[in-house]
Amino acid sequence: MDRRDFLNKGLVFAGVGLAIPILSLLSSCERTETMPVGDKLIELNLKDFPELLKVGGALKKNFDNLNSGYPIIIIRKSESEFLALSSRCTHQGCIVNLPVKPNETLDCPCHGSKFSSSDGSVIEDPTDGEKILPLQRFDTNFDSSNGILKIMLK
Ligand code: FES
Repeated sequence: MDRRDFLNKGLVFAGVGLAIPILSLLSSCERTETMPVGDKLIELNLKDFPELLKVGGALKKNFDNLNSGYPIIIIRKSESEFLALSSRCTHQGCIVNLPVKPNETLDCPCHGSKFSSSDGSVIEDPTDGEKILPLQRFDTNFDSSNGILKIMLK
């Protein structure tokens, strides 16, 4: 290896060594830009969602690409309490159905999982002992003075 080769290879190694930390820094910045903290908060004015005006009412709605594009299920449990769940079935990712009637289960059309409409827990597990997880649950906050429901995504 002559001096020129040695210098060229040294520059290549130095470039790769610098490029890796710079690329990882840039990719972490990109993640921050595509999902700022503010975008994880959903605010609904209930007057725009008549399904949720009565106790027992339920709604399944997509909010752009939040929740990885899966709709969010919102159930009114009482005058002041709401339940917000991901509709993504924890078995293999199908979208679970809303309960047919208040207090009935959230059923997955793919393999028969059933989840509780009061907390998203597993009622019926179609796997052979694999044990599926409850539906992902999101915190909610309802301000009855202005009818605004806030859902905090994780
Ligand atoms: S994906 Fe829901 S039961 Fe299999």
